[in-house]
Amino acid sequence: MEKIKIHGDQSLCLKGTVKVSGAKNAVLPAIAASLLTKEKVHLKNVPQVKDVFTILTLMKDLGAAYDIENNSLCVQVEKINSYEASYQLVRAMRASILVLGPLLARYGKAVVALPGGCAIGSRPTDLHIHGFEKLGASIDLEHGYIKAESNRLQGTKIEFERKTVGGTENLLMASCLARGETILKNCAREPEIADLCELLIKMGAKIDGVGEETMRIKGTDEMGGASHHIIPDRIEAGTFLIAGALAGDSLVISHVRPDHLRTVIEKMRYSGVSIKEINSHSLEVSKQEYLKAQDITTSPYPGFPTDMQAQFTVLMTQAEGTSIITETIFDRRFSHINELLRLGANIEVSGDKAVVKGKTPLSGAETTATDLRASASLILAGLIASGETTITEAHHLDRGYENLERKLNSLGADIKRIKKE
Ligand code: EPZ
Repeated sequence: MEKIKIHGDQSLCLKGTVKVSGAKNAVLPAIAASLLTKEKVHLKNVPQVKDVFTILTLMKDLGAAYDIENNSLCVQVEKINSYEASYQLVRAMRASILVLGPLLARYGKAVVALPGGCAIGSRPTDLHIHGFEKLGASIDLEHGYIKAESNRLQGTKIEFERKTVGGTENLLMASCLARGETILKNCAREPEIADLCELLIKMGAKIDGVGEETMRIKGTDEMGGASHHIIPDRIEAGTFLIAGALAGDSLVISHVRPDHLRTVIEKMRYSGVSIKEINSHSLEVSKQEYLKAQDITTSPYPGFPTDMQAQFTVLMTQAEGTSIITETIFDRRFSHINELLRLGANIEVSGDKAVVKGKTPLSGAETTATDLRASASLILAGLIASGETTITEAHHLDRGYENLERKLNSLGADIKRIKKE
C-alpha cells in the first residue's frame, strides 16, 4: 500500500511552469475505438497513468497488440481472441465498458461485466443498454454480465434520457459501423467526446454535429487506421489552477486548453483568484490574500465539472464566507469531506450539498484517499496545511494523474511517496 507524505505550509509559494499531460478521459475511448479497425491507430500525448495500462491489459486480452513509448501509443486489433471484459477489469475501471460498442459493431458480439458501484456512487449502464437495443442488438443480463449480440447494427434515432459521457461515446463508436444513419440526441458535450469524434473522422467515420447535443453518424462498412494527438487533460489543468489559487505566485500552466475550462476559470475569478490567459494554451495563476465564498452546482459540460468538485471544495475552505457545493452528477461524491474535516475544514454534508464555512486554517493530519479526485483534493489541502499530512491508499491518485507529486515538487512543494512494505 502506498502512502504520500506532504510537508505543508500556509505560506507555501508555488512558482514556475507546469506542463499538463494528455487527457485520461479522452485517451480511454480513443483506445477502445481502435477495436473498430484492423489497421494501426497511433495516439500521441498519451498520459502514462494506471487507467491507460488497465484498458491496454483489457485490449490485449481481447486480441490487440500495442506498443507504448513515453507518451506515444500504437494499438492494432487485427483479430479478436475474446469478446469478454471480465468483472475483475471492469470493477477496476468502469470505463472498460467502452469496449462494448466497438466490439458489438465490428464483431457482432460483446460480453462485458456490469461495473457495480464505486466510491463516487452507483454506476448504472441502462442508458448504454437502451441505446444498443435501439440499434437492434439483443442484450441479456445474466450472472453479472451484459451479453450483447447483433448480426449488423441498424442505424436509428436514439435520444438519451439523461446526459451520459460514456453512453454517448459507446453509441457514437457503435454507430460508425451500423447500417444507415444514426441520430444521437441529448448527447453529452464534454471536450473528450469531440476529441473522440476527431479521431473517428480520421478513421473514416462520417459524423455531423461534433460537440453538439445532436450528432448524425452515417454508418460505413469499414474503418481505417489513423494518427491522433490527444487533447490536454482539463481536470489536471483545473487541479493545478486550484493549487495556484491556494499557493501560487505567477504559476504558469502550459499545454492547456483554456476554452475547455471556462466555467471553472469564471468561478475562480468570481472568488477573487487572479487567472491570466497568457496565450491560447497557457494560464498564469496567483494566490490572492482575500477569497470570496462561491456556490457551485456540478452539471454536464459546459457546466461546472463534477471532476473538479472536490478540488474546488478545498479552495472554498480558504474563502471568507459560506459556499454551497451541490453535486448533481453522482450520488456519493463527498467521501473526501470526512478527510478534509480531519485537516480542520468546516464542512457539513446534507444530501447532495456540502456547506463549506471559511476561511479555516488547515493543519496536517493522517488521511485516506477514497477515489481519484478525492486524493487530488487531499494533496491540495496538504500543501497549505501546517505540518505533515499523510495520505494512505495513494494508488487512487495514479489512476488519473501523471507524476503529480513530481510536477508539484518542481514548483516548490515538499511531497514524498512512501512505499509501505
Ligand atoms: C465519465 O464517466 C468520466 N469518466 C468521469 O470521470 C466523469 O466524472 C463523468 O463522465 C461525468 O462527467 C471517463 O470519461 C472515463 P456518465 P461516465 O455516464 O461516462 C448516470 C474521473 O474522475 N448514468 O456521464 O461513467 C451515472 O450514474 C471520472 O476522471 C446512468 O444513470 O459518466 C452518473 O450519475 C470519474 N445510466 C451520470 O449518469 C447510464 O447508463 C453521469 O454518468 C450511464 C450513466
